[in-house]
Amino acid sequence: MSVTNFPGGSSSASTGIPITKVTVPALAEMKRQGKPISALTAYDYSSSRLADEAGIDLLLVGDSLAMVVLGHENTLAITMDEMLQPTRAVRRGVRRALLVADMPFGSYHGSVAEGVANAIRFVKEAGAEAVKIEGPRVELVRALVAAEISVVGHLGLTPQSIHRMGGYRVQARTAETASRLKADALALAEAGAGAVVLEGVPREVAAQITAELQVPTIGIGAGPECDGQILVYHDLLNLTFAPAAKFVRRYADAGGLIRAAIERYREDVERRTFPSDEESYHLAPAVRREFEETDRGRPVSGHDFSRAAKAAK
Ligand code: KIV
Repeated sequence: MSVTNFPGGSSSASTGIPITKVTVPALAEMKRQGKPISALTAYDYSSSRLADEAGIDLLLVGDSLAMVVLGHENTLAITMDEMLQPTRAVRRGVRRALLVADMPFGSYHGSVAEGVANAIRFVKEAGAEAVKIEGPRVELVRALVAAEISVVGHLGLTPQSIHRMGGYRVQARTAETASRLKADALALAEAGAGAVVLEGVPREVAAQITAELQVPTIGIGAGPECDGQILVYHDLLNLTFAPAAKFVRRYADAGGLIRAAIERYREDVERRTFPSDEESYHLAPAVRREFEETDRGRPVSGHDFSRAAKAAK
């Protein structure tokens, strides 16, 4: 079976969870039923396939990719092409989860028309089922919905506004800014946003917004009352190189595991214990005899390097 094949049947290979496609209306239904929405970022085929098979409801190709995959200091430099390519890879790995693509900085800030044109590229060229935009851009949400594109809003600590905010700071800490945030969330929902990510806001504020909004809130650093939670894949697995933020829970130390595995591999190569004879391909005995005869008897067993080494000198 090739690595890109999906097993047949209608349940996930590893969990047995029935594969019922998650859609934007399904998220609203989950909110109505009080069923928490699990969300995670994804940037490539294998990790998105694992997350999908683990039953995650929403996978976001986040522009956090700029930092955790490409090593940039913030999310501002990433381009449309750099976001489209991983979105295509994630599309190939995902069957059940809702696939949301993050619109990069600059792709929707100039004009509504440019924002709609770039969002269409995510749907048409990369298979995204919704796009996410940061900030209270009500007019753009209306235009996207009119163009049949589902939108996820993102309010609170919006990393694309890092320079305006003066750093990554918890937002809506005063009564006035909390009220404004709530008004923005309601306006996005009213304009047609299918969900709203709330990032880096006090729990009490997120709880009140969640209670008043018809569409789901997905929290990150916004407390447990949100309708769903999202984490960055690399944070969840400790694949980062900085201390975790307060809201991050590390579910595994993949960074430690990977480092230790690579060290063992390097040591095996240096000691010539990798690959072993069992990990090597062999000639059939008759072919080997013929080969050794035509090659003037030089052994090809893989264990005796002495004659080959002499010959190479
Ligand atoms: O880019 C991203 O990863 C995000 C999530 C943190 C919500 O926007």
